[in-house]
Amino acid sequence: MCGIVGYIGREEAVGLLLEGLKRLEYRGYDSSGVAVLEEGKLRVVKARGKLERLREKLAQTKLTGTTGIGHTRWATHGEPSDENSHPHLSQSGEIAVVHNGIIENYAALRDKLIARGYRFQSETDTEVFAHLLEETLKTEHDLLGAVRATVRQLEGAYALGVLCTRFPDRILAARKDSPLIIGLGEGCNYIASDIPAVLPYTRRVYLLKEGEMAQVFADRVEIYDMEGEKVDKEVFTVNWSVDAAEKGGYAHFMLKEIHEQGRAMRDTLRPRIREGEIDLSEAKLTDELLRGVARVVITACGTACYAGQVGRALIERLCRVPVEIDVASEFRYRDPILQPTDLFLVVSQSGETADTLAALRLAKARGCKVVAITNVVGSTIAREADSVLYTWAGPEIAVASTKAYTTQVLMLTLIALKMAKCKGTIARERYEALLAELQRLPEKAEEILSDVENVQRCAARFFSQEDMFFIGRGLDYALSLEASLKLKEISYIHSEAMAAGELKHGTIALIEPGRLVVALCTQGATLEKLRSNIREVLTRGAVVLTIGYADSEAEKELTPYRLAIPRTDDLLAPALAVIPAQLFAYYCAIQRGYDPDKPRNLAKSVTVE
Ligand code: F6R
Repeated sequence: MCGIVGYIGREEAVGLLLEGLKRLEYRGYDSSGVAVLEEGKLRVVKARGKLERLREKLAQTKLTGTTGIGHTRWATHGEPSDENSHPHLSQSGEIAVVHNGIIENYAALRDKLIARGYRFQSETDTEVFAHLLEETLKTEHDLLGAVRATVRQLEGAYALGVLCTRFPDRILAARKDSPLIIGLGEGCNYIASDIPAVLPYTRRVYLLKEGEMAQVFADRVEIYDMEGEKVDKEVFTVNWSVDAAEKGGYAHFMLKEIHEQGRAMRDTLRPRIREGEIDLSEAKLTDELLRGVARVVITACGTACYAGQVGRALIERLCRVPVEIDVASEFRYRDPILQPTDLFLVVSQSGETADTLAALRLAKARGCKVVAITNVVGSTIAREADSVLYTWAGPEIAVASTKAYTTQVLMLTLIALKMAKCKGTIARERYEALLAELQRLPEKAEEILSDVENVQRCAARFFSQEDMFFIGRGLDYALSLEASLKLKEISYIHSEAMAAGELKHGTIALIEPGRLVVALCTQGATLEKLRSNIREVLTRGAVVLTIGYADSEAEKELTPYRLAIPRTDDLLAPALAVIPAQLFAYYCAIQRGYDPDKPRNLAKSVTVE
């Protein structure tokens, strides 16, 4: 999730741009850069790493000018490096572009541009836009029209800030599926991907809507829709603090990230599904390779490992291939049996977890093909794996993982489906139905998130419990591991996840009157058995909260406490059912007075053993 800023006015731009970028630091970044119009020419300075490095470079290379754009980058296409940092220039150097989002058809556009003689300086999708705009400006003499014609050729998401030496009196801005705002100053104006960047200067902003574009001059702002019609926009006056604005109006980053899951799911799925087929060629997972896989090994830690548990169940069920899964800290020390024919998957949000990295190195040393599923481009795990599948969740700031888990689960689902298709272990109709349903999940996730009152009520009813149990069967059991971890780490309520059928083999001794048991009820094939397990604990005085389909009547007679999700295919249920579990953990933490963003004793990235 990159950060964009832009300034046009009477003051020197560089200082203001750096200030704006500083206020977008919370979005997470790995490099940054600025472009300024200086005496009719564009000058660019960029640096990999912290903003401080850019500041140092700018202290050595003085840029003067009162119009500029800046960017903090969270790498997607191409590793964090000076070259891949934004702004990107067009071939002639007349256009500078900053971009947030993912241009999905960039490879095809890039090939076309190369054929027309354009030379690329970076590996980014953004540079494609700079050259493409230059090409369009050869025939289109109005910058707004040229930007409109160019964005029409893009598939995917973008928020864009554009400077052009032929139009030095304006900044062009455009957005689709990535946020962009315009700050209104006195004799100056700003663009930014988020409100905190402009809050020290103005509280008056325009919030650009999907498909809208703006010409931002020092003394006025013109807004247009995709058809080129002028839009009359209301000024929005911000009355939040900087702190609240950073969190997009949410009370905590964790809540914001839970609510971002629809978008994160879409970004992860969309580039990999084309015309009804799954394309994982980015990780060199060819049909031939997948057809030949005899065994899959999954290794990870914590939440990433619990996503792996869902992956295991899906791969075994759909592909009829044995899957071994282990936490990385155990795996690396148990002299595991590995074959060069194994497909070895490591899952890691940060891409830096020490145990996961050690497991990866061990597997590579034993000749396995290692594919990393990670969220951080250029991370050590991404670099050392044979190939990478990125989850496009965007930076996760809260310590407790939420959107990373759902996107990891979706990535593993794509692998399972693709492998099943290659191996011929799934019927065509079933494959198509699952793929279609997979693409409906983001919308269903948003449906769950549109009404959280019931979760809040349940958390208010149960937050004072000191012990809880999460039970489920099959995929529900895999999910119960994550639901229980989420609760523990932020609310400090002790909880245990149990395979529901295993409860009576000992742990049921702990069930006493009033104890809460959370039952995950999405797996139709074992639901009758699970209901028997629910009755077992009810008989012993437990209170039961279920997480299951809204249209499933059967749980109603068992308990009044139910968290509902929209109906989906049972195989895809974990990615939805985890959402009420995350919210339940979050609201329990709030009720208990804890800060869910910074749980005690925990760090976001565990780079020690
Ligand atoms: C829990 C959580 C941790 C991480 C684990 C692995 O919410 O975030 O359990 O999942 O430390 O981290 P990554 O995925 O960065 O390897």
